[in-house]
Amino acid sequence: MATNDLECLGAEIAGLHAVHAIGRVSAVTGATLEITGLSGAARLGDRLCIRRRDGSELSGEVLGLAPQHIVMLPDGAPTGVALGDRVSLHDAATIAPSNGWIGRIIDPYGKAMDGRPIMRGAHPRALRADPPPPAQRNMLGARLETGSAVFNTFLPIVRGQRIGLFAGSGVGKSSLLASLARNVQADVVVFAMIGERGRELRDFAENVLGPEGMARSIIVAATSDQSPLVRRRCAWTAMAVAEHFRDQGLEVLLLADSITRFAEAHREVATAAGEMPSLRGFPASTSHMIMSLCERAGPGGTDQGNITGIFSVLVAGSDMDEPVADILRGVLDGHVVMDREIAERGRYPAINLLRSVSRSLPRAATDSENDLLGQARALLGAYDRSETMIRAGLYAQGSDPQLDQAIRIWPELDRFMAESEAGTAQDSFDRLALILRRAASAPSQGRKPQAASGARPVKDPMRPPVRGGSQNRGNGAIAPQRIH
Ligand SMILES: Nc1ncnc2c1ncn2[C@@H]1O[C@H](COP(=O)(O)OP(=O)(O)OP(=O)(O)O)[C@@H](O)[C@H]1O
Ligand SMILES: [Mg+2]
Repeated sequence: MATNDLECLGAEIAGLHAVHAIGRVSAVTGATLEITGLSGAARLGDRLCIRRRDGSELSGEVLGLAPQHIVMLPDGAPTGVALGDRVSLHDAATIAPSNGWIGRIIDPYGKAMDGRPIMRGAHPRALRADPPPPAQRNMLGARLETGSAVFNTFLPIVRGQRIGLFAGSGVGKSSLLASLARNVQADVVVFAMIGERGRELRDFAENVLGPEGMARSIIVAATSDQSPLVRRRCAWTAMAVAEHFRDQGLEVLLLADSITRFAEAHREVATAAGEMPSLRGFPASTSHMIMSLCERAGPGGTDQGNITGIFSVLVAGSDMDEPVADILRGVLDGHVVMDREIAERGRYPAINLLRSVSRSLPRAATDSENDLLGQARALLGAYDRSETMIRAGLYAQGSDPQLDQAIRIWPELDRFMAESEAGTAQDSFDRLALILRRAASAPSQGRKPQAASGARPVKDPMRPPVRGGSQNRGNGAIAPQRIH
């Protein structure tokens, strides 16, 4: 048996306790229970286990402490619990990740969910650890290969960067995270599925990641039907697992789907503990909770690797001022906004480039690459400003050379942004340069403008916009199309 396995076995044995402090259920009030007899021994966050009279067990966590009793939030409904039931006190909130967890699906307590035996690691870690000291953290590192044209160019991800994916429901957050999990350069991938659908888990492991993706991944999962304690713990466990590998000097990619579910789980726990709701129903501690989680991702300290973090956020109706989105944006080094309208016309990933930013630019790209990105963004911006006119068929080609170029380049840029098997960043920049060169050299086919520049009406303004690709209609008016 390898030394590492022996160490793990030792840790497993050391984790066994012959004796536990015992208390009794003294009251059940709503979702929480009061336990007497453990006030001197219990700490906030410790685990508790109630043994019901029918022999079944109900676990939970210490949520409050008082001189005469402690408050417990159970992991499930307290049905069948009776006054006087025995309650045992267990270890504090730690987790002992092991290198042998790579390729496995675990729950937030480190137990296997794939039916195979699993061994805990030799060294327990705090679930809610501090980030590396700020003054000793590495700088953001080199650009990572992502396999996706849009992330290779416009929205680069560098080692230790933290970015958010913001989108409404069903716009493609999980699919994009899955594609990044497969393709982004990393030694180990830790995927936290927090409060998402149970049916997605197996499909994700077997079909989306597949054996090749799983060979470098660990999935930590808590599905939507589980208690808020378990869902909230899922994010902390995934982060502790990522830190375990980072401390060995490895480059870790941490993907969390979604931070909104983490915040919602915290809201349930905090309100059960008596905290008052404030920010649109979220208690005031939500902000600290999200920030302290995300701050643990990012560059490691000296001799450590980095945790590159990608966090998905559900924003209802693309409302970026919604509390969780607002809090998260403050702590991230970039945000990717996905747009339902783009998804509805079938372009995936449905990223709205003009609303998305990677703060690793301009440093993550060379001068010439930044120049290309500047040109492309300027054209996209020009189109965006005149989009309503163009869509209404009110723009006469030839009125504004920059806009003409933007209209010409759009279909190709749109296809470019959807490229998911795009090769290296260099390949993607070569493609982008080619698209821009072609658009610049293509002859303008419209009639000469009467005004110097700008859009002007040439058609009946009441005519409804027509969907479809860009076309010159012979009279200089451009058929409408959707652009972002
Ligand atoms: N790259 C893609 N190619 C084709 N279809 C896609 C792609 N990404 C997403 N979709 C479509 O969008 C649907 C929703 O995607 P996904 O589950 O990733 O969204 P989500 O934002 O995670 O949703 P939710 O908020 O409900 O979790 C998919 O079932 C699929 O039909
Ligand atoms: Mg999803």
